[in-house]
Amino acid sequence: MKEVKILLTGAAGRMGRAVTELAAKESGASIVCAVDVTPMQGTFPCYAGINEVPDDCGADVIVDFSHHTAVEGILRFSERTGIPAVICTTGHTADEIKLMEKSSEKIAIFRSGNMSLGINLLMALTEKAAAVLNGFDIEIIEKHHNQKLDAPSGTAIMLADSAEKGRGGKAVLVYDRHMRRERRKESEIGMHSVRGGTIVGEHEVIFAGHDEVVTLAHSAQSREVFAKGALSAAAFMKGKTSGLYNMKDVIDSLIGE
Ligand SMILES: NC(=O)c1ccc[n+]([C@@H]2O[C@H](COP(=O)([O-])OP(=O)(O)OC[C@H]3O[C@@H](n4cnc5c(N)ncnc54)[C@H](O)[C@@H]3O)[C@@H](O)[C@H]2O)c1
Repeated sequence: MKEVKILLTGAAGRMGRAVTELAAKESGASIVCAVDVTPMQGTFPCYAGINEVPDDCGADVIVDFSHHTAVEGILRFSERTGIPAVICTTGHTADEIKLMEKSSEKIAIFRSGNMSLGINLLMALTEKAAAVLNGFDIEIIEKHHNQKLDAPSGTAIMLADSAEKGRGGKAVLVYDRHMRRERRKESEIGMHSVRGGTIVGEHEVIFAGHDEVVTLAHSAQSREVFAKGALSAAAFMKGKTSGLYNMKDVIDSLIGE
């Protein structure tokens, strides 16, 4: 992997720790400093806020696994220093997404609700299946640990987008049916969130047709799969000056290597 020095935001969290552990094992990537509102001990300096990080911190790329509300400060820091940002955090509001799109005209921003290679393949398969399985009802089930803050998961939304693209028409995402007494419509995609225990991340896309059901599924068994994707994205983003990138760009670049 290309040498890359990382400023890690959300370093004390579950994903922050997974990225730190993997960077210590992998050659190429290193954490030069971090940000977390929760104080932590580490082999690199950790600041309580992005505003406290010196502009000359030595990082090539920012990797964010903190909280969606942190994005504005990260973008301001990134615009000031020209350091590209890899935003892995999920649950952004429409305004925060617009902010990232606007900033990407000036700086390089990577954003993906799921950093795993397998999930990105699942998205491509979902698009294909939605195009082929015409008239099948689509339902998406996602399962995560009991500490997860946002629902549905960013990945479930990405899978719904893939299904919508495959269908070639506008889908209506339905999150809750308990107050309705009516049959589902063909244009609906049912979204279901399960929260419990220590489940790392499971996603199922169900295509239910007349007398047959096709299910596409992915199960993440450790956080390392996301950390690995984040380090690959960081190496990919080093030196980029502007534009909005996602996991497909990283995968395409790995195929080209
Ligand atoms: N894209 C992916 O593949 C992927 C995979 C897993 C998790 N995630 C997302 O990453 C985020 C973090 O997940 P997690 O499981 O590590 O959560 P976590 O709660 O364990 O960790 C989040 C950390 O961020 C810190 N934090 C909160 N607000 C902050 C701020 N304003 N500035 C700096 N630090 C702040 C917290 O103190 C905490 O240590 C979530 O949004 C989650 O959905 C994305």
